[in-house]
Amino acid sequence: MNDFTFQNGTKIIFGKDTEQMVGKESKAHGKKLLLHYGGGSIKSSGLYEKIVNSLKEEGIEFYELGGVKPNPRVSLVREGVTMCKEHELDFILAVGGGSVIDSAKAIAAGAKYDGDVWDFFSGKNQVTECLPIGVVLTIPAAGSETSSGTVVTNEDGWFKRATGHLTMRPQFAILNPILTYTLPSYQTACGITDMMAHILERYFTNVKHVELTDRLCEATLKTIINNAPTVLENPTNYDARAEIMWAGTIAHNDLLGTGRIGDWASHDIEHEISGIYDIAHGAGLAIIFPAWMKYVYKHDVKRFAQFANRVWDVELDLNDLEKTALAGIKKTEQFFRSIGMPITLSEANIGEEHFEEMAKKATERWALGNFVKLQEEDVYRIYQLAK
Ligand code: NZQ
Ligand code: ZN
Repeated sequence: MNDFTFQNGTKIIFGKDTEQMVGKESKAHGKKLLLHYGGGSIKSSGLYEKIVNSLKEEGIEFYELGGVKPNPRVSLVREGVTMCKEHELDFILAVGGGSVIDSAKAIAAGAKYDGDVWDFFSGKNQVTECLPIGVVLTIPAAGSETSSGTVVTNEDGWFKRATGHLTMRPQFAILNPILTYTLPSYQTACGITDMMAHILERYFTNVKHVELTDRLCEATLKTIINNAPTVLENPTNYDARAEIMWAGTIAHNDLLGTGRIGDWASHDIEHEISGIYDIAHGAGLAIIFPAWMKYVYKHDVKRFAQFANRVWDVELDLNDLEKTALAGIKKTEQFFRSIGMPITLSEANIGEEHFEEMAKKATERWALGNFVKLQEEDVYRIYQLAK
């Protein structure tokens, strides 16, 4: 096991009616806030009204910026930064999913910076401080509610890039599983895929003696797999929604990665797809992860066989570990299909026309992955495998 420092200070407030605490929680961090949200789901669900009432009850002054699109755009981030500076806002409240939270995080960094916020994503500069952020989560998926990272898309060239800093971790995250009842099943499934991918990125590591975190990863994956069919068949099953929501946070709050080095190539390979084609990140991962697995499994057949056996209950064939490993990859693919995800690029109407460009963009700063290092040619081959 590697040495590590683990610090995740986000206060989690989990359960029914917890959104009513948003005013009180926000007041502890700021006096004048930016209320940031997406394309309208919080208005049609009635959540917007509850949030506004709670803020008013606490006498908090706030400005609003809605309209965050999935795969959030830097142009709206820039608007938010200008608002924060103009009105001297001191706190950002994100109400929504990963896209809203990521947009809020980028605004929080930009508000404390004199240059263009994209500098943090292009690598020109690094984040050193942020305005504090609070979150009311409406979709369990990206794990951004407790992560220290943000992913934003620049429409100028369709670059989807990540940056991060410890001060980006939200101060609090309110998680009420009932708020997820209104999710379309496709979005629920995209979220499930993304949280599984966050665990898998950490699971496939070269670090030895990581038994505890292996087991924690496997348990979290199993919980997601067990509850996924229930939330899709019965979207108002509170307990199943609660399991999935908490799993989404655990998958990406860094605990499962302690003492190990995660891979993250599949995420980088996927970001090129959702950056150009604007598909849901989770759907892109359902396509890329199995392809990546097929490309790299020979690097550590034993680990892939362990994954197949412990997560998918595939019988361990000690005389033919490769068979077990391949059966686990197949099960992963079948599961994504069973929850309604595309598992090939063609199912998502994506052709070969940008393969070369995407492979080049994905590797232009550094080789991808840690489990297996991938160069431009490898990434191109993975897109080919995902056809
Ligand atoms: O915009 P609205 O109208 O709110 O609709 C959203 C959006 O269309 C809808 N939705 C959310 N909650 C709902 C709801 N509809 C009905 N009822 C509800 N309760 O769902 C759609 C998707 O929302 P989005 O925020 O885009 O989803 P998600 O949470 O999956 O976020 C995806 C983004 O997060 C990034 C992804 O790359 C992608 O851009 N990621 C961020 C990470 C991080 N910061 O740590 C890590 C991840 O790996 C990921 O890369
Ligand atoms: Zn992800």
